[in-house]
Amino acid sequence: MKVFVTRPIPENGLKLLKEKFEVVVGSNQILPKGELIQKAKGFDAIITLLTDKIDGEVLDGLGKQLKIVANYAVGFDNIDLPAAKQRNIYVTNTPGILTEAVAEHTFALILAVSRKVVASDKFVREGHYTQWEPMLLLGKQLWQQTIGIVGLGRIGSYVARISTGFRMRIIYYDIKRNSEFESSFNASFKELPELLKEADIVSIHVPLSEETKHLIGSEQLSLMKKDAILVNTSRGSVVDEAALVKALSEKKIYGAGLDVFENEPRLSPGLTELDNVILTPHTASATIEAREAMSEIAAKNVIEALEGKTPPNIVQ
Ligand code: GLV
Ligand code: GLV
Repeated sequence: MKVFVTRPIPENGLKLLKEKFEVVVGSNQILPKGELIQKAKGFDAIITLLTDKIDGEVLDGLGKQLKIVANYAVGFDNIDLPAAKQRNIYVTNTPGILTEAVAEHTFALILAVSRKVVASDKFVREGHYTQWEPMLLLGKQLWQQTIGIVGLGRIGSYVARISTGFRMRIIYYDIKRNSEFESSFNASFKELPELLKEADIVSIHVPLSEETKHLIGSEQLSLMKKDAILVNTSRGSVVDEAALVKALSEKKIYGAGLDVFENEPRLSPGLTELDNVILTPHTASATIEAREAMSEIAAKNVIEALEGKTPPNIVQ
């Protein structure tokens, strides 16, 4: 049997696959739909990245022998799930093993924004550090601040765990309340508008869906405190990016840390000119540990599916 991997991923998972199947790995270029179909046609399994749009047309193009689309990501908004279900094709993701990496990156962004890390580095490099100053590059501390976690899945919960180390107060919003979480983290559930009004840091951890698209728009941004920070490591379209650029440029909030963008890799006009935002290129899960674990999990899902078993990480 044959496995197509749309772009190179860490070798450890590929090695597992190569022990059992013929494996073809694409080049490190995003394949346009037509080329993807042409290259992966006739394969029994495909490992896709979040940059591959998989819809009914692609699935039909690949052929009836296709058993699984194993997404190398925890998010799977790039795949048309009903289309896959209709054709009896498994869709799997890589949950669990990137939780800590993404949550840690969330804090990298929170700290970078609140302590002006990037501006400080630039200041020193450019030779402006000529004397210690009482009022130089003052930021905000996290101690005793309120973090508002939007979306209490694995990542949101781990962000809460890290927040306790900073002695932050935790509030959260999710479609489901979690009383066990509330008691173990001394956390309070808030409806989204309340959370936005109260939080000093708002951190987003929901998957992208019809329901969460533009969950944070101009109305929601206007509820936030003037010195609050917004962090997004989930999917860009959860935030109305144009509205965020406007809020940041009008200093309606203190700042933002963004790892994801609405039309990535393209950025909304004005975003890069703002000095109250920190931008990273969708690298929240980019640790060697997480990426190798993702490779292994994607491979294991493929192996189970092709050996006639139920893969462990089905998303539908
Ligand atoms: C990355 O964004 C992922 O969904 O794994
Ligand atoms: C994703 O891993 C989540 O559940 O937050």
